[in-house]
Amino acid sequence: MGEIITSGASIVLPFREGIDINKDRIMENNLLSRLNSPKFSHRKRNFAYEMLGEMLVNDLGLYFHSVDVMNLGGKIAKVFGLNERETLFEYVTHDVGKTGVWSLLGNHDKYTDIEFERSKVHPVIGYEILKKEGFNSAANMALEHHMHQPNSYPKSEKGDPGWESGLLSLADFYSATFRNDGKKFDLSGKALMKSERPGLVNEIDALYDKGIFIETV
Ligand SMILES: [Fe+2]
Ligand SMILES: [Fe+2]
Repeated sequence: MGEIITSGASIVLPFREGIDINKDRIMENNLLSRLNSPKFSHRKRNFAYEMLGEMLVNDLGLYFHSVDVMNLGGKIAKVFGLNERETLFEYVTHDVGKTGVWSLLGNHDKYTDIEFERSKVHPVIGYEILKKEGFNSAANMALEHHMHQPNSYPKSEKGDPGWESGLLSLADFYSATFRNDGKKFDLSGKALMKSERPGLVNEIDALYDKGIFIETV
């Protein structure tokens, strides 16, 4: 178990250390309640289930990460007044492009440098997969979710990415950097996010102040 400190409050949170049965169950329940909500259309639910099933078999870390980002998306949607149904779907599918390149990637938490370089095709592949299904906003979010950082990819052809994908990028970064590594997210975590995401300083403050970066169980 780990501890997360947020402006005065201290909350205990089970960090992922290998496969944690409790976390697995919590995630699973969370996932099912979200995906079974009538807010999800049949097609989107089936698509998400199929994608997560593939992740579960091929890359457990990616499965947890996708569910984690989706749950953060639910909170972000409330704070920013976004369409919850769309946001949940966009967030859970943001890394769907990785399902198209399993053979290029290793099944472990941290990619090697070569694997990381290879993984950079996943936003474009994700865009194509989602676009083909007609899930246009999710396709754009998948395409842009790594554009909000100093070494962004892929290079944008139509200028700056939107703020919506900036919020997804924060949830993605937070999940990948703090949750799965079992690090604390405190003021130094906030500073790290600000240095990694210089264009999203106000959003980081807003999410931090609203307690988005806190998980209670
Ligand atoms: Fe990604
Ligand atoms: Fe991700």
